[in-house]
Amino acid sequence: MTEVELGKESNTEEKEDIVTPWDVESANETGVDYEKLIKRFGSSRVDDALIEKLEKIIKKPVHHFIKRGIFFSHRDLHGLLNAYEQGKPFYLYTGRGPSSESMHLGHLVAFIITKWFQEAFNVPLVVQMSDDEKVIWKDLTVEEGIRLTVENARDIIALGFDPEKTFIFSNLCFMGQCPEFYKNIVRIEKCVTYNQVKGIFGFSEADKLGKVGFPAVEAAPALSSTFPFIFGDKKRQVLIPCGIDQDPYFRMLRDVAPRLGYPKPALIHSAFFPALQGAKSKMSASDFNSAIFLTDTADEISMKLNEHAFSSEGNCDADVPYSLLTFFMEDDKELERIRNAYNSGQMSSAEMRKLAIDCLQPFIAQHQEKRKLVTDEVVQQFMTVRKLKC
Ligand code: TRP
Repeated sequence: MTEVELGKESNTEEKEDIVTPWDVESANETGVDYEKLIKRFGSSRVDDALIEKLEKIIKKPVHHFIKRGIFFSHRDLHGLLNAYEQGKPFYLYTGRGPSSESMHLGHLVAFIITKWFQEAFNVPLVVQMSDDEKVIWKDLTVEEGIRLTVENARDIIALGFDPEKTFIFSNLCFMGQCPEFYKNIVRIEKCVTYNQVKGIFGFSEADKLGKVGFPAVEAAPALSSTFPFIFGDKKRQVLIPCGIDQDPYFRMLRDVAPRLGYPKPALIHSAFFPALQGAKSKMSASDFNSAIFLTDTADEISMKLNEHAFSSEGNCDADVPYSLLTFFMEDDKELERIRNAYNSGQMSSAEMRKLAIDCLQPFIAQHQEKRKLVTDEVVQQFMTVRKLKC
């Protein structure tokens, strides 16, 4: 089976989780079965051997997102690390579809780990703002798409990326600034049939034309020649940290890359960030109470956690406040203490909610402070076509 064929719905009787870039629905109350997903997608588990290898190379512990299994799956990370050890650097690529003004906590996950990789390996990063995608899929004009790109870029920059090693681009604007971007899109489009994208993404004949072409646009930045002003004519392998729902784009590119003379992109995938209502429901930018937004006030955060977060007394695995702590509490020992206390019934769900509130209020407040410092000039700097240190 080619990578393109993997991940298609199989003909089993059992109800399967649905995981596509637009739709995530778990068949069970407990959320998506990640072990099954790894099998179905044909990716690999981030296991102890891989974590040891990472730590040996960078000579420090891995980020808690990796240690705690939040980034649970990968493709070709071993090969990428072997090459790195032999003096072949990689670059990082991730992205954001700017569909609304305010991002929520879940949107930060891929960016937080990407920043960690950038610092640990000292490599350049490109960030795609797929405003074109959101214009095609949502009720947004081209002008609004570009405006949302800039607003969301402020939140991304506020995480502390290094301007000398980070290029952020709006698809709608970059396409006209860099012919190599479009050339690579056409090279990719030439290798993939409508039948294949239909199989991977589930498009139908009533779908807008732009949807069918978009996968090549998300895939192209994974070819280093899309950025001649950064990499010259040197071919570099890419590492893409992303949510597992974005994997289909890169499964498609992994089929195509060798035919275009490129190494296959390596990936590291995260599990889904829980909606406040629990693993089975979805976070949605249009439902204020389904997520903690980066613009929320301290009072809104406590209100949401106290009134809307799903608690499962005595069971950390189904408890939303606890799972928020696994993302944002850095102290491993304290987290372990909380887990044991809750699971053994010594800690109430009211106490657990309070811990999550105490962890998230300062995190969000600090984010808002840092965001204020990101002026138009700073955004401009990150989004200018230029050489990076690499
Ligand atoms: N399609 C992604 C979204 O809707 C955004 C995106 C564009 C992306 N390029 C990417 C995500 C590369 C991960 C990696 O949010």
